[in-house]
Amino acid sequence: MGYAIADAAARRGVEVTLVSGPVELPSTTVRGPVRVTSAQQMLTAVREKLPRADWLVMAAAVADFAPSVVEKEKMKKDQSRELTLRLSRNPDILESVRSMKDHRLFVGFAAETEDLVHNAREKALRKGLDLIVANDVSGPDTGFESEENSGVILDQGDLAEELPRMSKARMAERILDAALEKWKKGGVSG
Ligand code: C5P
Repeated sequence: MGYAIADAAARRGVEVTLVSGPVELPSTTVRGPVRVTSAQQMLTAVREKLPRADWLVMAAAVADFAPSVVEKEKMKKDQSRELTLRLSRNPDILESVRSMKDHRLFVGFAAETEDLVHNAREKALRKGLDLIVANDVSGPDTGFESEENSGVILDQGDLAEELPRMSKARMAERILDAALEKWKKGGVSG
């Protein structure tokens, strides 16, 4: 979805900076994506680019945890039947840049399996988002690793715009339309 939104915005003539984790996708029309391989690197890149941006769209599915230690060499197997990996909490990028929000419009995503609207609204509030795109990821046909998606665009108030199943390219246009409307109305929360 992140690539679809970046491309749709670029087609509209917007100056886009794409910060991307490791993904295997067809190329993008956005020039020079900033490639990162960890949540910490993504946070650093977002912090660096945000001062020059008016909007932040966070579509990355960032892992909640990362291995505490990354071995340089292949790990040798021993006789044990179990292996315990120690994981550390990744930074929450949206929450970490909340203090930089000011006039900016922040859009986030919420992949939920239950109580879609309720949980996503709560997330919008907690992360200080102007809009949140909630996906139901309990079904097999939409969301991750699919050309199509469905969901609902919410704000912290009454907005609830249904997005029936459609291509990710089309959905990107709908999300940009909703964001533009919010931006024009000046309804951005501080
Ligand atoms: O809390 P949850 O991962 O469900 O929130 C999803 C939203 O938060 C998405 O917009 C995602 O890009 C963003 N996120 C983040 N930093 C994380 C995890 C998620 O900014 N470490």
